[in-house]
Amino acid sequence: MTTAQELWDDVDAYFTTLLSPADEVLAAALRDSEAAGLPPINVAPNQGKLLQLLALIQGARRVLEIGTLGGYSTIWLGRALPADGRLVTLEYDATHAEVARRNLARAGLDSIAEVRVGPALESLPKLAEEHPPPFDLVFIDADKVNNAHYVKWALELTRPGSLIVLDNVVRGGRVTEADSEDPSVLGTRAALELMASHPRLSGTAVQTVGSKGHDGFALARVTG
Ligand code: SAH
Ligand code: DHB
Ligand code: MG
Repeated sequence: MTTAQELWDDVDAYFTTLLSPADEVLAAALRDSEAAGLPPINVAPNQGKLLQLLALIQGARRVLEIGTLGGYSTIWLGRALPADGRLVTLEYDATHAEVARRNLARAGLDSIAEVRVGPALESLPKLAEEHPPPFDLVFIDADKVNNAHYVKWALELTRPGSLIVLDNVVRGGRVTEADSEDPSVLGTRAALELMASHPRLSGTAVQTVGSKGHDGFALARVTG
């Protein structure tokens, strides 16, 4: 019997082979991440391509990512940027950051993408103190417990028209459990409630199935 997950894997394999096939740089990024013992929790290839398309649709020149891992999603996003574009990606774990830097260098993105090590809630105020030009897209994909804080920081660091993307908002459906004791669920619910209530955010959320199981993402546009 075919399980639901096998079916989702087959469809993702079909879409990915057709529309977002791995090149040597992306394949090597995943290979080296695995060899270094990083967990395989990167976005799927078709999701990476979606991030890239969103950045292109945005006409993004500046991207902020929270949660680098081995830089796999960073490569997809970085490839959407012009040669003078800028990508800042925040990573807690120094080993993850080192792997990501090597992967980004191999992708030829080391002059565009900068990996900053430390807890994002420390890196974000430091970044804000530099008064950088606004980011056009923010991809939030780190510790889910802090998701609402990350959305608030994204508001500080963007402009009207910027796009905020939040990963892993479904987690097999657990997002609906209002009485959950899982801090990740509570953090994600707080972020979604902020998107719903904040006067400068217009958002939606979409559930997905695929090689990453049953999950989803939220999108929010920063309004005037
Ligand atoms: N965006 C990546 C996956 C990120 S996985 C991709 O799709 O390829 C989540 C990452 O967030 C992990 O590397 C983890 O170490 C990092 N992380 C966890 N807590 C963090 C924190 N407080 N600040 C910054 N990064 C954090
Ligand atoms: C996990 C984190 C992610 O960002 C993801 O896309 C999948 C899984 C995790 O922490 O398990
Ligand atoms: Mg994720």
